[in-house]
Amino acid sequence: MNQATDFDNSLIENVYKIVSQKDLKYFIKTWGCQMNEHDSEKIEGMLEHMGYMPAPDEKHADIVVFNTCCVRENAELKVYGHIGALKHLKRRNPDMIICVCGCMTQQKQISEYIKKTYPFVDIVIGTHNTHILPELVQKVLKNQSPIVSVWDKESGIVERMPVKREKGVKAWVTVMYGCDNFCTYCIVPYVRGRERSRRIEDITEEIKLLGQQGYKEITLLGQNVNSYGKDLGGKVDFADLLYQVDKIEQIERIRFITSHPKDLSDRLIYAMRDCDKVCEQLHLPIQSGSSAILKKMNRRYTKEQYLELVDKVRKEIPGVAISTDIIVGFPGETDQDFNETIDVIKRVKYDSAFTFIYSKRSGTPAAKMQNQIDEDTKHERLYRLIEVQTKISQQINQKLLGSTVEVLVEQVSKKNQHKVTGRTRTGKIVNFQGEKDLIGKLIKVKITNVLAHWLEGNVVK
Ligand code: 5AD
Ligand code: SF4
Repeated sequence: MNQATDFDNSLIENVYKIVSQKDLKYFIKTWGCQMNEHDSEKIEGMLEHMGYMPAPDEKHADIVVFNTCCVRENAELKVYGHIGALKHLKRRNPDMIICVCGCMTQQKQISEYIKKTYPFVDIVIGTHNTHILPELVQKVLKNQSPIVSVWDKESGIVERMPVKREKGVKAWVTVMYGCDNFCTYCIVPYVRGRERSRRIEDITEEIKLLGQQGYKEITLLGQNVNSYGKDLGGKVDFADLLYQVDKIEQIERIRFITSHPKDLSDRLIYAMRDCDKVCEQLHLPIQSGSSAILKKMNRRYTKEQYLELVDKVRKEIPGVAISTDIIVGFPGETDQDFNETIDVIKRVKYDSAFTFIYSKRSGTPAAKMQNQIDEDTKHERLYRLIEVQTKISQQINQKLLGSTVEVLVEQVSKKNQHKVTGRTRTGKIVNFQGEKDLIGKLIKVKITNVLAHWLEGNVVK
């Protein structure tokens, strides 16, 4: 079973003595998924505890942190561009510390490449040891020599790390780390390590504190939240966790990502149905509608099993919004396979879909598969997929016209001071007339207009 340890605050105190005298500032740039965004909140928390203040951009920062993603190649290329662009800043300000961390640097060949190609980078750190950043910053502050520190193996879970969350209504909470699924296209299991679940009491303690601080909506995060608890001796599962979080008083809404279809149990579907605060929203990545491709992807379900699962979810949770991830152009994907994907999205009628072009990731089994698909075909398929899905999303949203929905107000609209923005339980953005005192409240709104990316409405008196 996993050992959890508390974050070592003494590391931070040491750096604070140096940083706080100098009025130093930080800037973080993040690529990738919500897990990465949330990791950046922890990095930000550590930096602020070290005495660093936020900077508006790289130019005004004394430490720049790039938290990277390697799920697809284009994300990686962007990161290299950004690292290269820091060279002239470093020349102007040699005391600036540059740190590159996250999923890219967890790969040995990449951390070595960064060290060689960008010698002005001071700290390269992997995903398993982000919590030792204060120690590394201290070393660099003292002797200025670059450090590459990438742990091969995952550490135990580190609890009570400082986290700097945006002030507001919504907060992310990690429930588990890593992934054991090894889908053949995916690099995540190699860079995030094996599945490790946080103890239920650590999670609920964190959420209670967030409730006391005024947060109303919690999104539980994990690469595959449905596996939650398997490594905790099998006594608790994700459904148990939902029942526990549902009882926390100040919290109004609970969401979670991501679910793997093979692990979405009946117990979990019933928990979603029975817990009042768990929203009617499910992100259920299908990846492909062809059973043959799913097999090659090692997804461990067929098209038919997936469709049955969706039927079950819709039956138990009326009005549920289902979203998905789809990859086009996986090796060997024929026109017929792709047409099956189109068929599935028409049958499921997803509220939304994140669509990706297959990207070869070195070290994954799919990278070595025969029949890689040419770029033009991949782009054509993506284009067709988006076209079909956009129509479906529009039709679903159009049906909301005239209905009354519950909106959790998040903020004042950026475009109009007298309007506020929030989301429905199903995750749709709604703008309506209202002042900032509505932030954090649940308001009934009648939908009067449906636009491409959001809805408009009026408060129901
Ligand atoms: N190429 C394209 N998309 C990928 N994803 C994961 N790996 C790859 C890859 N090699 C997509 C999957 C996953 C989402 C987060 O990213 O759809 O669900
Ligand atoms: Fe990658 Fe599959 Fe794990 Fe998701 S479930 S992180 S796609 S290996």
